[in-house]
Amino acid sequence: MSSGTARAYTNIALIKYWGKKDQALVLPMNNSLSLTLDAFYTETTVTFSDDFPADQFYLDEKLQDQKATAKISNFLDVLRDKHQVKQFATIKSQNFVPTAAGLASSASGLAALAGATSAALNLNLSSQELSRLARRGSGSASRSIYGGFAEWLQGTDDQTSYAVPIASDHWENELTMLFMIVDDQEKAVSSRDGMQRTVETSAFYQGWLDSVPHDLAKAKKAIHEKDFTALGEVTEASSLKMHGTTLAANPPFTYWSSESLRIMQFVQQLRAEGFACYSTMDAGPNVKILLERKNEEQLIATLKEKFPEKQLVVAHAGPGIEILTKEDVNP
Ligand code: DP6
Repeated sequence: MSSGTARAYTNIALIKYWGKKDQALVLPMNNSLSLTLDAFYTETTVTFSDDFPADQFYLDEKLQDQKATAKISNFLDVLRDKHQVKQFATIKSQNFVPTAAGLASSASGLAALAGATSAALNLNLSSQELSRLARRGSGSASRSIYGGFAEWLQGTDDQTSYAVPIASDHWENELTMLFMIVDDQEKAVSSRDGMQRTVETSAFYQGWLDSVPHDLAKAKKAIHEKDFTALGEVTEASSLKMHGTTLAANPPFTYWSSESLRIMQFVQQLRAEGFACYSTMDAGPNVKILLERKNEEQLIATLKEKFPEKQLVVAHAGPGIEILTKEDVNP
């Protein structure tokens, strides 16, 4: 029996990943850039044993159904096939989120799973190898290997597609990401299905792809120069463009609810009044607001006048993956 435990934090993309060129290997159509955050993380323990008749996956102490377990098993098979491991595993995952409103993250979950599995199998992977492995579980997980800013390089094959940290002289510690929780109860299109439908059918997809290199360069320059306005502008632009592609998909869809739009418009209004803040959204109705940490209290006070306090979650830059234990009970 051997087991390993890892903790990984979620990340939010400032320049979005949207679309795959290889679904099996999870190779993206474009590079993306993210900020890892401290407010949401996953801890996962993976234990392999000859005694287990099948994989068993517990999330927040609840045994998961076949569908959820199959996703985990498929990921484990990548390593089992490569390292000739015949054993099944028990996987115990705990999501640490400040509120229950749909904030569980595949980025932190799959990064923690990659870290725990590689620790259980004593693989001693480098960060780059771990990022490649996490990518196989979920693309965005490749970026959660690193704290602060990270760029996922799309690459051309399994070897060359991984995330790298972006040097920033700790500027990320001067930023805040405010989550505005919007629970609209609507059935969501998963990011996996949504991006694939968009690649295959959206008349706007090529426009998105063509615009990414410029946005990425602007974001990296902004980080290098600690230029908050430039980073904020390109963050909001990347998000709006990504969400624009879904409107031209067939069938069309959107992750925005009326409440999401209300928040995004409020952010624009605040900016018009001279307050530097910018919005970004992912595959769901929640809105995240990027701002400078020194303005955090002021913005929270302003938001509380318009939105319920429980809708608000404050996050700052978070650390990279942590391997918590690596023990061989019976090697
Ligand atoms: C909108 O990483 O969840 O959050 O690779 O299919 O598991 P899969 O998708 P996932 O997609 C994230 C999409 C996004 C943008 C981003 O995080 O870059």
